[in-house]
Formats: sequence, C-alpha cells, structure tokens
Amino acid sequence: MSGPDLRRAAAEVAVGLVTPGMRLGIGTGSTANVFVELLGERVRAGLDVVGVPTSEATRVAAEAAGIRLATLEEMPELDLTIDGADEIDAAMRLVKGGGGALLREKIVAFASHRMVVIADGAKRVDTLGAFPLPVEVNAFGLGSTRRAVAAALRACGCTGEIVLRARDGAPFVTDGGHHILDAHLGRIPDPEALSAALWAVPGVVEHGLFLGLATGAILAEARDGQAVVT
Ligand code: A5P
Repeated sequence: MSGPDLRRAAAEVAVGLVTPGMRLGIGTGSTANVFVELLGERVRAGLDVVGVPTSEATRVAAEAAGIRLATLEEMPELDLTIDGADEIDAAMRLVKGGGGALLREKIVAFASHRMVVIADGAKRVDTLGAFPLPVEVNAFGLGSTRRAVAAALRACGCTGEIVLRARDGAPFVTDGGHHILDAHLGRIPDPEALSAALWAVPGVVEHGLFLGLATGAILAEARDGQAVVT
C-alpha cells in the first residue's frame, strides 16, 4: 500500500506562501516539480508572478506550466525561492545538488530574501553528510582539482570516496558545462570549515553545502497514513 504523497503535501503548503506580484526562485528536483505543477495551476487561474528557474529542466517545466519567467539579469532580486533539498539539519543547513543543479540553485537562493525548503521529512538529519556531497568542478585540471578536494576534505576531518558523477557512461555535465565530484563522507563534522576549504580550491566552481541560505522549511511526514507538514 502506498503512503501519502509527502512531496505534494509540502509543495501545497509552499504554494500558499506565494502572493500576487512575487518574484520567485523556482527550484529543481522531484519536489520542486510538484511545486511548479501547483504554481502553474494558480497562474492559469489568474495569479501574476514571475519566476527564475534554477535549471534548464525547471525552465522547461515552468514554461510548460505557463509560468512567466525572467533571468537574474532582468530581475536581480527575488522575494522568495522554493526548492528541495537532499539533507537538512536542525540549523537549516542543507546538502543540495543531487540533481546536479547546485550552482544555479545557490545563485538563485542567494538572490532571494527568503528561501523555503520543501521536502519529505526523511531528509531531516542530525549531522549532514550521509548524502554524498556534490562538488561542481571545472573540467580543466580535473585530476589536480580532485586531489586538492581530497586534501580539503581530510583537513576538515572528512574521509571517504570521491566519485566523478557519470550519466550514460560519460561524465555528467551540469547546466554550466562543469562536472560533479560526489564526496561520500558519511558525516561532515564542521560544514562551515568544509565550505571555506572547498571554496579555496581553484577549479571548484561550487559545492552543495547551503549554509545560512534557507530561512524556512516545509517538511512532510507520514503519520497514521496521513501527510503531516511541519
Ligand atoms: C537538485 O540539484 C537538488 O538540489 C534537489 O533540490 C534535491 O536533490 C532534492 O531533490 P528531490 O526533491 O527530487 O528529492
């Protein structure tokens, strides 16, 4: 027997935060896709908003849903971003990038006054790091960058395998034309230190630690066969 649709439950609450005239950041992933679908319904019913998508996939989905879109050049400041996450801790620190959109997701979140995470409550963790940490890297110098990333991880007390993300037998390429190293760490004892250490590596374009960006979270859990949103 399948349980309640937790992604939909979270996305429904998030759509309720959207008010006329808002400038929205629109996230990427399966939960954000449900948000796009529900937002599209409200737009077709007359809601006037403008969105900046965080990936090409979301751009296509949002256009199909009839949502008016803009770029951050046209609209550099956003009111609210709604996006999914791979992990969230009690301090609202996130791991993102499972779908490979971390760079645009972080740029959009940073441009927003508020970023609200929508997710299945199972994404809540005590310590970040069970989900592999995506590190987006320039293709040039990949071998050297990978060694430097490994050293940065070790310096921050993190150990584990670093895997070049692949799709269809070739290195995965992000919307920005970069590759992704997934760091299988198990736990990240000091996310702030690791964030700084990764940024110090030439060739690292961005990483999936979102620190101090999320201002709220809508997490849905199944209780007695019902979706409960907290
Ligand atoms: C995309 O790059 C990711 O950051 C997603 O936001 C994250 O992986 C959550 O995706 P789901 O909603 O599909 O779990």
